[in-house]
Amino acid sequence: MESSRRTFLIGGMLVWATVACGQPAPSGRRILTACFSRTGNTRRVADHIHRLVGGDRFDIVPSTAYPADYEATVEQARQERARDYHPPLRETMAALGTYDIVLLGHPIWAMTLPPVMRTFLSGHDLSSKTVAPFCSHKGYGRGESAAVIAKMAPRARLLDGFDIEGEDADTAGPAVERWLRTIDLIRA
Ligand SMILES: Cc1cc2nc3c(=O)[nH]c(=O)nc-3n(C[C@H](O)[C@H](O)[C@H](O)COP(=O)(O)O)c2cc1C
Repeated sequence: MESSRRTFLIGGMLVWATVACGQPAPSGRRILTACFSRTGNTRRVADHIHRLVGGDRFDIVPSTAYPADYEATVEQARQERARDYHPPLRETMAALGTYDIVLLGHPIWAMTLPPVMRTFLSGHDLSSKTVAPFCSHKGYGRGESAAVIAKMAPRARLLDGFDIEGEDADTAGPAVERWLRTIDLIRA
């Protein structure tokens, strides 16, 4: 029992950690949906996106998880920002160069990107890629997130982004679909 459960868990982790080989999107463009999500809201938005555009998924995960406690995370993130510390990732996206379009998701932290997103942006070259940012938040909007992405990925073609309140992530499907049509990633 114990060993079969371990096998199952290990199997599950492998599936979770592994990026499927890139499949051409229907349009012929290769699409990656990558996101960081601490409590699952942004990941649920990423699920809607992935269902609609296909392509591959990548979870941006810090080597050491942020605390489960909200206040502790706020304090840790505050210190990281103050030191401009970029927490290491558990895994980098080695195959990023093979994608044409990257849908890049994150929660809003202190009206900007979580520090771990800065790690991702400084460690991955998005030059010449089309980047469509999306985020979830608690009602205060995107803050300066798009400006930071534009600054950290100056040679990417940045599309209009999408944002939603985290508590609405489960039912975000129709709004996500409208956004994807607006930026021409899906057609009628
Ligand atoms: C450290 C921290 C800072 C946050 N700062 C903001 C903020 O400035 N504005 C806001 O609307 N929500 C803020 N939030 C709320 C999150 O953006 C929101 O709950 C989001 O949906 C969480 O996404 P996730 O489940 O993908 O981690 C903050 C949350 C944390 C943990």
